[in-house]
Formats: sequence, structure tokens, C-alpha cells
Amino acid sequence: MNWRKLRTVLLTALFLCLIPATRYYQIDQPILRSLEGRRPLDPAELHLAGEFVENNLGTEMDSNGSVTVRMLAQQYLFIPHCILVPAGIPVHLRITSADAVHSFAIEGTGYNVKVLPGTVSETQLQFPTAGVYKTACREFCGAGHYAMRSEVKVVPREQFPALRPDERGNCGAQ
Ligand code: CUA
Repeated sequence: MNWRKLRTVLLTALFLCLIPATRYYQIDQPILRSLEGRRPLDPAELHLAGEFVENNLGTEMDSNGSVTVRMLAQQYLFIPHCILVPAGIPVHLRITSADAVHSFAIEGTGYNVKVLPGTVSETQLQFPTAGVYKTACREFCGAGHYAMRSEVKVVPREQFPALRPDERGNCGAQ
């Protein structure tokens, strides 16, 4: 084998090795973290028990002031349909899918979280000012994909803890 042939073979081998590597890094790092050391969720059980049961969805503020949002993506909606969060502080998002692969993208921001059945995707959101943000699924998930939309309503930080618990997780009485 002459040097040219050898070089071609080596370059081809290197290229083939890089394909799986790039695919791996395309997956969001939060998803990779969430895959480590957790028992997989059973999508069929989501509505019945555990962290993602309906009355546990939406925004929650702990006594230490940290804010967590729990959401469910399913064909073809996000639950809750509208979430309420405070401006100016980090919001910890935990989201999972009841069926297909979806994504939760917040328009006008860089946020686009891939949502997979059987696992929890986590990320940290932060909104500098109050306002309403449209969200959309950006992963083709079936016939109703283009209608899979929701909203994030960001309220001034000082208004948020004053909300009654039953107002959390929806944009109702604002
Ligand atoms: Cu869900 Cu596209």
C-alpha cells in the first residue's frame, strides 16, 4: 500500500469515527445528565402516580425561594398549557414526554429542550423581564405537531410569591 492509499484509508476511518461522536454531542447535555443513574419513567404511569401526576404539574416555589416547573409534553399539547414564572431568578425546568419525542422551545429565547419519553429533561431557565413568551414543539411528532403550542407568562419577581397556590401552573387570574 502506498502512502496515498494509506492516507485515504486513515482519513476515512477517522471520518467514520467522528459521525457517532457528533451525534452524541447533538443530544442536549441536560438530557445526558438526566439519563445518568435514574430509574426510567414509565410513560403509561405518568398520569397515575409520581412526580408528573397532574396536580404536581406547573410552577412551585420552595420555602428557600427556588422555583421549579414541572411539565408534560404529549401529542399534541403541553401540560400545563400556560406556566407562570417570576422574572429575574433561575427557574428549574423538569419536563418529560407521555409518548413521542417532542421539544419545548421558547420563542425569542435560545431555549429549546428536547423531551423524550421515559426520561426527565432538565434545564435552567431565566427571564430578565416580565412578558408573555410563545412556546412551540420543534421536533416533528405527528399530525398535530404544528398545533403543539403553549405560553410562558413571566411576572415581576415581587408579584410571584403572592399568588395563591392554586394559581400556580396556569396563567388564569393574572
Ligand atoms: Cu410535539 Cu412536535
